[in-house]
Amino acid sequence: MDVVPPCYGRIVGRVRTRSLFECSECGQQMAQWAGRCPGCGAWGTIAERPERPPSSRGGGSGAVEPLAGVSGGHGPGRRVRTGLAGVDRVLGGGLVPASVTLLAGEPGIGKSTLLLHVVARLATAGLTCLYASGEESRDQVAARAARLGAEVGDVSFLPGRELPDVLDAARARRPFLVAVDSIQTVRDPGSSSPAGGPSQVRGCTDALIGLAKSEGITVLLTGHVTKEGDVAGPRTLEHAVDTVLSFEGDPRSGLRVLAGGKNRFGQEGEMAWFEMGPSGLVEAEPAGYLVPGGDASGSATALPLAGRRAFAVEVQALAVPTDGPPRRHVAGLDPRRFSMLAAVVERSGGIPLMRSELFGAASAGVRLDDPGCDLAIAAALASAARGRPPPANVGFVGEVSLTGRVRPVPGMAQRAAAARTAGVGTIVSAPCEETVEGVAIRAVADIGEALRWAGRRHTQHEDGDGPRPG
Ligand code: TYD
Ligand code: MG
Repeated sequence: MDVVPPCYGRIVGRVRTRSLFECSECGQQMAQWAGRCPGCGAWGTIAERPERPPSSRGGGSGAVEPLAGVSGGHGPGRRVRTGLAGVDRVLGGGLVPASVTLLAGEPGIGKSTLLLHVVARLATAGLTCLYASGEESRDQVAARAARLGAEVGDVSFLPGRELPDVLDAARARRPFLVAVDSIQTVRDPGSSSPAGGPSQVRGCTDALIGLAKSEGITVLLTGHVTKEGDVAGPRTLEHAVDTVLSFEGDPRSGLRVLAGGKNRFGQEGEMAWFEMGPSGLVEAEPAGYLVPGGDASGSATALPLAGRRAFAVEVQALAVPTDGPPRRHVAGLDPRRFSMLAAVVERSGGIPLMRSELFGAASAGVRLDDPGCDLAIAAALASAARGRPPPANVGFVGEVSLTGRVRPVPGMAQRAAAARTAGVGTIVSAPCEETVEGVAIRAVADIGEALRWAGRRHTQHEDGDGPRPG
């Protein structure tokens, strides 16, 4: 490892540059050398990284220009549709020219497949694309394209391991889109840090952002995230890129969710669903997959908001009494929120859970961050503890406070519409004004009332009998 002693203002030719120091472990940058990294605490990992002149970073000329008088420009007003409706919706209407989008997900989830679908659609629409892959060879990409039935005759392929090759090819060919699979396999030979490490990943992303902004080329990158929260990965890049799309799902099931994260040019939180099949990804409507079938105990239907739309999804819970310290295990739910809800179900709902090992999950690999899902999680926990299924075709919506009150949440009209699509005829929620034909609101004030109602035996006609006083 190159450990360089402190040194300021080196004279390089006639240009005086100021050195920059960087940790090879966590990518933290600093103006001064240190034996121990202030970011991650590692010893002996700081090395000098001289700031390169802007040209080698793919940046612009640096000339000052008037802001007004740009015709069309690269503004968010102009968008290019990929032709995949779900991708376009999550992007906010299509790709913004000269923007940089990161498609992040766990290995094996389908990032390369989605990238190739997008590239093929754009190429078919007559837009030039350069596909740089450090993950797969030209033959492998061509074979995958054949499997997808994708038309990629006009797509240029580049083995995308060396950053300068990607930048040079992009400047020479000036395609509409440069697709890079993946950012972790691109290497800047000018950097001494290991390929795939945080400082390489960030440096290469910086260079590609420079390319996008100076040349007006749209860039689409894939990036791996790990279950553990990802050291060398896209999370550190979210600030740098314009848009982050995350591709999630349970790799064993065919269902995938494309979720919009940060978006400089559009609304965050949109979602689209795809099914991975023998010939690639096909857009899917989530309604049929995600609501509980049969009459198993320990499940409830939540109606989370995703951007402007809502969808119905099954929340599952399992409660197993234990003599040891009771632990909580979650998939797709916030662990702290889950523990808090279990405590509230016991305290305000009167259902014992604290001496049980508790498991909670959102179905089909969906991640639920919407507080409006609290009541459904509580209902699933109560159903698990009682060993009784919740009433059929009922959804639960509401934020639950520490005192057990059920609070109203925004987007009731969208949630009710999603309920109707999924065949859910009754929503248990705080009283609300919105109505959607075919969906009854069963208004409750607190979690005790909600869980008592859910735990009763129901006939078809008593569901959704309107708000009750108190
Ligand atoms: P891939 O796009 O390679 O995932 P990532 O780039 O995120 O690592 O796809 C991963 C899985 O998808 C792989 O196990 C094979 C499967 N797959 C299909 O089921 N059908 C297909 O048509 C393709 C291309 C892949
Ligand atoms: Mg891949």
